[in-house]
Amino acid sequence: MKPCIPLLEKLFNKNYNLIDGTDEIFELDLALWEYKTLSKKELINRSAYFKSVDSIETIHYKLCNLQNLEEVYKESSFRAKSFFLNGKYSTGYATHGLFPYRGKFHPQLIRALLNILGVKQGELVLDPMAGSATVSVEANLLGINSISVDISPLCELIGKVKTFALNLDIKILEKITNNQSILLTKLKKDNIPQYFISSKDNKKKRYYEIILLAYLDAVGFSKRKASPVEQLFYQVLRRYVTTIKYFQAAKEKIALKIGNSKIIQGNALDLPIDDDSIDAIITSPPYSFAIDYLKNDLEQLKYLGASIPKLRQMMIGLQGKCVDDKLAIYFDKMEQVIREMKRVTKNNAPIVMIVGTNNIQTKGVNLEKEILKIAKRQGLEFELNLKKPIKGLQNTMKEESILFFTNKK
Ligand SMILES: C[S@@+](CC[C@H](N)C(=O)[O-])C[C@H]1O[C@@H](n2cnc3c(N)ncnc32)[C@H](O)[C@@H]1O
Repeated sequence: MKPCIPLLEKLFNKNYNLIDGTDEIFELDLALWEYKTLSKKELINRSAYFKSVDSIETIHYKLCNLQNLEEVYKESSFRAKSFFLNGKYSTGYATHGLFPYRGKFHPQLIRALLNILGVKQGELVLDPMAGSATVSVEANLLGINSISVDISPLCELIGKVKTFALNLDIKILEKITNNQSILLTKLKKDNIPQYFISSKDNKKKRYYEIILLAYLDAVGFSKRKASPVEQLFYQVLRRYVTTIKYFQAAKEKIALKIGNSKIIQGNALDLPIDDDSIDAIITSPPYSFAIDYLKNDLEQLKYLGASIPKLRQMMIGLQGKCVDDKLAIYFDKMEQVIREMKRVTKNNAPIVMIVGTNNIQTKGVNLEKEILKIAKRQGLEFELNLKKPIKGLQNTMKEESILFFTNKK
């Protein structure tokens, strides 16, 4: 028998080691792309899929290992704990684990995309349908500035908390969260919790938004677990504080420079952003045919005082009576969103859209093919479609397409 050379040895120089668990085809594709486009120093400082280069551990690998996830998740269920520990390099690091937003990006994938697209420190990246602001958090970790826009006030809160928690004084947070029962009494009042919402002239209130988000997390958690919110709130808040504490300690140790972020509650069809001001976009259109974002977050949105009928009108994919109707309105709105993305990006800026393939709930219509047609019609230059499988028994979507475009003006 003639011995065969293992794939990884064929792809990478033997002094370049991948992070454990990098074994999907799309991950190897992205790792190879990082390997081909980043210098050795850049690979050490910012790569997503490398563990070490010439025996020097990468920043990503160090950060993920310094975060003491065993301690953070010690009170969590076995399922949650193993999810985050197994996903320590892909989803569980920095502040990404703070709120379980459905359909969120894999942070490690976003890191790789930012690298491949060549976005540099100090440049500005946008996600116009940002959900839980994964793009902003990941960009900020690389020293890149970011704007996240989402129509949902819950997403605005999540984004503000996750990005603020990258750069705060942990002593203030620990002091404020000392007396949890007083906080809980205030949070349980029926009216909108103004006490916990930040304002321009009261920066300290940004710490209170972390507590508010922990409460809303506990509200969702209590529905899933059928346990009282009171009991879960203490557990969730402790997890939030320890996550942030260990991240801050790790950040100091590896001297990370965090980028700035702007989190906006706004409409992707009419972005409050200047023409030609954005260096890159990474986004994913709503998976509305699989997830009803309003139903999913109803309690939290009501608590925040949102007008549900108004949101239903503005959320892409939630209008229309039958599937055909819904699809027509969805594509119409996506055309306007893509027009806006073209307007706000600079000449030659890269635009990446990650689109879930979901033929079952769309009666056979392929969303990714339609979005590709719309983008081309709007003058975006198509570069590549990279396929990524979606794992998990409960997912109706089995695959996503990572669509790469360039905005040639
Ligand atoms: C697939 S999710 C994004 C998830 C995100 N990538 C993350 O990592 O959390 C799509 C988002 O689009 C938002 N959305 C729906 N209609 C919108 C609109 N008109 N303007 C801005 N955002 C909108 C939804 O609220 C939802 O959070």
